[in-house]
Amino acid sequence: MSAVMEISSAQDKDVKSIIQLWEKCGLTRPWNDPAQDIAFACEKQESDVLVGRIGDEIVASVMVGHDGHRGVVYYVAVSPDMQSKGLGREIMSAAENWLTDRGVWKMNLLIRQGNEKVQSFYEALGYNEEQRTCMAKKLND
Ligand SMILES: CC(C)(COP(=O)(O)OP(=O)(O)OC[C@H]1O[C@@H](n2cnc3c(N)ncnc32)[C@H](O)[C@@H]1OP(=O)(O)O)[C@@H](O)C(=O)NCCC(=O)NCCS
Repeated sequence: MSAVMEISSAQDKDVKSIIQLWEKCGLTRPWNDPAQDIAFACEKQESDVLVGRIGDEIVASVMVGHDGHRGVVYYVAVSPDMQSKGLGREIMSAAENWLTDRGVWKMNLLIRQGNEKVQSFYEALGYNEEQRTCMAKKLND
């Protein structure tokens, strides 16, 4: 029988392991401070970082939240040596449940240019591409 992944909210002691997971999965960027991102999401009622553990090891993560209208996920990650075993589907299902528990009925997510291969993963989970233009502005420059 394969090991069961336990999913829970991230704790302060998990921060280092979460960042290592994101680095292994190629999700960190020099212009984003991952520790700040985790702290900011975890301190709000409208957002959280969920982690999946097998034994003591953090093998999956998702940052989930909502803006009062739509849900959103970031930092969807499964440890490279644990991919293709259904854990990505499980951690996304936990994020969807987190949102539906709070009355959110639609989730948006972004895929970075160059990472189009994960589109098939999200399609397997029932997500569809919607034609939108994403615009952004940094508010602290
Ligand atoms: C994307 C990611 C989270 C998927 O996790 P995973 O554990 O490998 O995915 P699962 O095993 O749960 O796969 C779920 C479904 O997606 C499909 N899938 C997963 N990756 C796929 C891929 N690259 N191409 C096609 N289908 C894929 C699986 O076949 C499976 O379909 P099925 O349940 O119908 O058989 C993982 O590959 C990852 O961490 N990638 C690096 C980080 C990243 O790019 N994150 C997304 C940022 S937008």
